[in-house]
Amino acid sequence: MNRREFLLVGGASLAALHSGRAFSQSHRGALLSEAAREDLPLLFGTDYYPDQTPEHLWEEDAAAMAAAGVTNVRIAEFAWALMEPEEGHFDFRWLERAIGILHAHGIAIILGTPSAAPPNWLSQKYPEVLEVNDQGVTLSPGSRRFTCPTNKTYRHLSLTIATQMAQKFASTPGVIGWQIDNEFTLGSSGRCYCKYCRAGFQEWLRAKYKSLDTINQLWGTVFWSNTYTDFDQIPVPLPSGAPPNPGLALDYDRYQSYANVSFMEEQLAMLRKQCPSHFITTNNVGLVDTIDMRDLYRNLDFAAYDNYPGFFAMSAGDGTDIPSQALVPTIALGHDLMRCARDGKPFLVMEEQSGKAGQPVFSPQPEPGQIRLWSYQAVAHGAMGINYFRWDTTNFGAEEYWHGMLRHDRSHSPAFDEMLQTFRELKSLGPDALHAPCEASIALCYDLASSWALSIQPGQPKLRYLNEIISWYGAVRATQAGVDLVPATQDLSRYKVLCAPVMYVVSAQQAETIRRFVEGGGVFIAGFRLGVKDEHSRIVDTPLPGLLRDVMGVELLDDQPLYSEKQGVSFTGPLTGPAAPCHIWADILEPQKTEVLATYTEGAYAGKAAITANSFGKGKAVYLGAHLEPADLGRVLGIFLASAGIKPIAAVKTGVEVTRRSAGGRTWTYLLNHSSAPQTVSIEGVYRDALKRSPISGAIGLEPYGVRVLMQG
Ligand code: GLA
Ligand code: ZN
Repeated sequence: MNRREFLLVGGASLAALHSGRAFSQSHRGALLSEAAREDLPLLFGTDYYPDQTPEHLWEEDAAAMAAAGVTNVRIAEFAWALMEPEEGHFDFRWLERAIGILHAHGIAIILGTPSAAPPNWLSQKYPEVLEVNDQGVTLSPGSRRFTCPTNKTYRHLSLTIATQMAQKFASTPGVIGWQIDNEFTLGSSGRCYCKYCRAGFQEWLRAKYKSLDTINQLWGTVFWSNTYTDFDQIPVPLPSGAPPNPGLALDYDRYQSYANVSFMEEQLAMLRKQCPSHFITTNNVGLVDTIDMRDLYRNLDFAAYDNYPGFFAMSAGDGTDIPSQALVPTIALGHDLMRCARDGKPFLVMEEQSGKAGQPVFSPQPEPGQIRLWSYQAVAHGAMGINYFRWDTTNFGAEEYWHGMLRHDRSHSPAFDEMLQTFRELKSLGPDALHAPCEASIALCYDLASSWALSIQPGQPKLRYLNEIISWYGAVRATQAGVDLVPATQDLSRYKVLCAPVMYVVSAQQAETIRRFVEGGGVFIAGFRLGVKDEHSRIVDTPLPGLLRDVMGVELLDDQPLYSEKQGVSFTGPLTGPAAPCHIWADILEPQKTEVLATYTEGAYAGKAAITANSFGKGKAVYLGAHLEPADLGRVLGIFLASAGIKPIAAVKTGVEVTRRSAGGRTWTYLLNHSSAPQTVSIEGVYRDALKRSPISGAIGLEPYGVRVLMQG
């Protein structure tokens, strides 16, 4: 069966599901064949907790879900204590009954393995499993995610319960896939610093570097008498009177990411064996840098992601975190990151906000239309399915205030009908649309080595990798062109432009990739702090920007953290426009045979180059030495992108997003209005409104928080 035929079968099976027919064996056969790993059924469901719901309500819940058009649930990821009430005593009877009821209502089941929340008997008997945070404090049990990813007892017990589940449910009708654990690393410090992690780190270093001499040399341990004469001496970066060795600290971040991935992979290997016809994934919050998403998802079937825009809105409110104008791009960035974790493969939103969200404090109720809009935004950026978190709202526990599709009294939540409408509409788009790749002509370098090294040594305390990524992403997305997040280690020739804000660490492989990209005709736009360090966190011993000096056609005269001093930038040539302030950082550039497009205005370096553009091979390399405010950055990047041939799909006002997915000669263009005012979008060409199924062209109206999907071909 080819992909298209498979999708048709998949679609037909789901149509049967929606009409309330059971998820029969024949449907399972079609949906869960080997092909299912690539060509998945539509997944529009909810996160459900039968373990937290009295059994007499399960039937009512399943019937209501079926009536609501729910195709699947994700269940059991926090139910370890019920499944293994005592060590080695397993009880899956309740779960079998719950699955049976759901399946009888035509609802498919994604099972979660429960390692994120170990039961109390486990932490009581094996206190060594507890995480030690970055201050050396051992976490207390009583919540979740308080365990060490290296500890063998915890890993063994996690694998045991997961294996028991897998054996029990490998061929249970209705079960279609797995979520391993829940949100790796999303704990208080995100990393563990215990003695088991220390031993694991030493072992990992031994495998990576083979000899202590290499480590001593690469990390420069001669400094402060840190020379190691035995692997056992190597510490973890806990408080120690002064900052740690930067090379050690960077490798420790790598080790912690590895430890979590390898923990996940133990369960994955077992599930592949026990449940060959099920898909396997894990969920995550995209914008954390404690785990490398590309490593995490490499061997999983697809990426899955938890999307809570209300959280960003809450932190934007006090001005300390993400500025509010960055909100829409920040949410979009999370989606793009998940899509790019598997090089463009569609991802699943395992949890999507369905109401007021939070724990002790919670976000406002999303505006009418906003939950539908956020769901479409995920699809517009490459999602293939959505699960609303959660079905009901619990009356107890740490997440009493996390509002689901039902309220505390089990009546419909304010957005209930909106979610049902969204299910209906997104299903009607069909599998071709939901599996189509996103178009992207711009690559943005997102590399955890730079993120980690910069948080170890920010240079200026306000300099944060993620903030820079967000403001560059926002500036680039203002053109409405599609953006892929790449580590810049693989061929980039399919992109017109590569942007690299604060690419503080540049490996030899990345330098080579970038060089080839520019030689071949690409436009490379780099921000300040380019190529300061190699991958071992040593500062390069050539003039900056190190390995990319000839490509950029500049050498740094100086680099300057900026505090209270005034600095500004004046533009010339194609960038001509109002002068702009420069805060936080200034790289002072000495052009070689390079065009100077902006100069500094203040102090000893007044008149020196701040922005340059160099022709290299068939392409161009631009150095943005000055840290610019988002509006100025947007103007400057917009000019470079336009001259690189990036054309907006449609001209839109702030608050409106446009994306495009395409496959088999057909395109789906998503128009998303994130503002509370009606908007009009002028777009060239004649389309079909994919939801209303009528022709549409010219000036297209969008209601407040409204969405349009335009089809062509
Ligand atoms: C996360 C988790 C869920 C739940 C929700 C709400 O993303 O995966 O278990 O905690 O958020 O907090
Ligand atoms: Zn540990």
